[in-house]
Amino acid sequence: GTAALTGAALFGRPSSAPADARALPPPLPPGPGGVVRLDLTAAERSLALPCSNGNALPLWTFTDSALPPVVRVKLGERLDTHLVNGLTQPGEHVSVHWHGIRLPNAEDGVPYLVQKPVEPGESFDYSFVPPDPGTFFFHTHCNTVEQLGRGLMGVLIVEGDEVEPYDAERILAIRDWRLNEARDGFLPFLTLEGAGRAGTFGTVRSVNGAEMPAIDVPASADVRLRILNVDPTRIMEFGIEGADAVVVAIDGLACPPFPLRSWKMGPAMRIDVIVRTPADGGSATVLDYFAAKPVPLARLVAHGPALRSGPFAPAPLAAARIAAPDLSAAEPQLFTFSATATAAAVQAAAGDDGGFLGPLCLSAASLWSINKQSWPGSGMDRLPPPIARFERGRSYRLTLKNVTPRMHPIHVHGHSFTVLESNKRDLPPHLADTVLLLPNEVIDVAFVADNPGRWMMHCHVIEHQETGMMAWFEVA
Ligand code: C2O
Ligand code: CU
Repeated sequence: GTAALTGAALFGRPSSAPADARALPPPLPPGPGGVVRLDLTAAERSLALPCSNGNALPLWTFTDSALPPVVRVKLGERLDTHLVNGLTQPGEHVSVHWHGIRLPNAEDGVPYLVQKPVEPGESFDYSFVPPDPGTFFFHTHCNTVEQLGRGLMGVLIVEGDEVEPYDAERILAIRDWRLNEARDGFLPFLTLEGAGRAGTFGTVRSVNGAEMPAIDVPASADVRLRILNVDPTRIMEFGIEGADAVVVAIDGLACPPFPLRSWKMGPAMRIDVIVRTPADGGSATVLDYFAAKPVPLARLVAHGPALRSGPFAPAPLAAARIAAPDLSAAEPQLFTFSATATAAAVQAAAGDDGGFLGPLCLSAASLWSINKQSWPGSGMDRLPPPIARFERGRSYRLTLKNVTPRMHPIHVHGHSFTVLESNKRDLPPHLADTVLLLPNEVIDVAFVADNPGRWMMHCHVIEHQETGMMAWFEVA
């Protein structure tokens, strides 16, 4: 069973309990196929967000909506995307990275590494069949601090993991916007102070573009919440007060259900939660417990007749079809995430309280590294040598070692890995595409290198990514 959060848990910085041993139902068979067509035109659009007080903002979006498009495909269907770059700023190229999808390398959307960047006025087509059901998202992989800061992303849902359907579903895309005080424009997205520390936070926190929205849900029902941290920067600790909730998927992929107390999520990380909603007229609160004082982010407001009265025991999702690594034969590989010697120097040059130096200065600054190697420059155009070469089909055990006092959500493209253990906390073993390293934390993950190609590994605090904490590896 599960317990609702108590006042003590609320202020006691709860951590989530480990998974129970229940096995997941086997993967569901893919449907008959078919094709979903998607048109994306990256462009500047003058649109108001729910949180911009009615003011239009110079958003950069993929569709005519201020909010990210939600794309749904069924397991087995092909997604065919036609991307047009309608941005007019010279040199402002784009691409689409399908975060967490184990797709063919050429569809991965990383400029220079796997495709030509799409220049203003040009177009590019992506085509793939997502192999795993779940909650994913897509975003630009070019000038990401600014392009994602202005909105270039969307949500991608692959249906086909529910063994017993839930009563309703809601998407909670959580992010800050870096709005100025009048909320009619953006503040600089990248600051040296932020890049060298925890990142530059937004000024307005939002769920689905709104500050503290009231989200309608059916009453006394089991509702699936697809929760995405799509912030460029902020690490949050997700929790719900006033309703029982269990986690059923991490980074889109089914996990044995465990009670949600709170869950730390770096940028790009997702969880799926089943919540038993309150009775008609009641509400539950979504909070970020990361800071000493929890921050309410949204309310779930229940309406209508009770849909369920039995005990709260939501069915697990069907397992994903992902090869399990052979831990007895896995080859070990160490990745150390560190600050570079130049960080202090650049910091000193900027004065200790930082100050905005602008992208031009920052492009010269490499502040972070993986195995002492910083990605050269702030763009993607200068490829360093690969940080590792993995043999196709072989199992690897990666030790991810954070030797900095900052947090780093580390993302691996093209593969999902199993999170095995941390030197600092009890984590339920689970599949993921992004794992959060706390300060000085060491986490072991394992995976089968079964997707050939050239793949990125980087911190998803985008300012860290773009000031050096980025690398690529080859699977061949
Ligand atoms: Cu979502 Cu290379 O990133
Ligand atoms: Cu980082």
